[in-house]
Amino acid sequence: MTVVLKLGGSVVTDKETPETVDDAALDAAVETIAAADVSRLALVHGGGSFGHHQAEKHGVSLSEGSHDVAGVWAIHDAMRRLNDEVIRRLQDAGVPALPVHPFSVGARDADADLVFPLDSSATMLDEGFVPVLHGDVIAQADAGATIISGDELVTRLANGLDADRVGLCSTVPGVYDDDGEVIPEITAFDDVADALGGSESTDVTGGMAAKVRALLELGAPAHVFGPDALETFLAGDAAGTVISG
Ligand code: IPE
Repeated sequence: MTVVLKLGGSVVTDKETPETVDDAALDAAVETIAAADVSRLALVHGGGSFGHHQAEKHGVSLSEGSHDVAGVWAIHDAMRRLNDEVIRRLQDAGVPALPVHPFSVGARDADADLVFPLDSSATMLDEGFVPVLHGDVIAQADAGATIISGDELVTRLANGLDADRVGLCSTVPGVYDDDGEVIPEITAFDDVADALGGSESTDVTGGMAAKVRALLELGAPAHVFGPDALETFLAGDAAGTVISG
């Protein structure tokens, strides 16, 4: 059983305060992951108040690149420090977590298509480790460096590793409909286009609408849920909104 799980930046960081880990929320997620019995687990975490503020400050987004080495480094450095923090806590809880820094692994070609070899992540899984990737900057042909979102990495990992289950854990319990109720299942973007608002905080990678679009492309069903349902998801049960295209 291969599971790809993303912890949103809103779960692992305090999104309103620059470069601040949400200790309680991250520790709770780490404890739940440590207690779960998943044979092959690949983790991804978002940028939250580490990546997004730096990306905005330096004018870098999914589509806007930069050749400013100091700016590109500032974004990567912030994300790497957040990743160090996530890895350290996972290891302290007994999870054999190791980093995979996307900046050093992949690139975008001149058509902005992602080229992202999975050798390191797949071999780590084979060897019993838990690879932990993160939203990052990534070199892009003719554009310098752009942002790669955690959602893009989830898509790449899910398809490339032939994942059985995909989870997106954010601070909301699922995708809401117009009445504020969690939609149990989404099978087409048009069904929910009107109900999906933008993210309130600085989010260079597009909020819930972008997440749903990315997840509809996957070969495996994806679950969008809140921290309270992480245990349910890792136990193999339906959590939050199930998205399958
Ligand atoms: C963003 O990653 C990464 C950077 C801005 C460097 P995500 O888009 O996956 O992060 P969250 O989950 O929305 O915070």
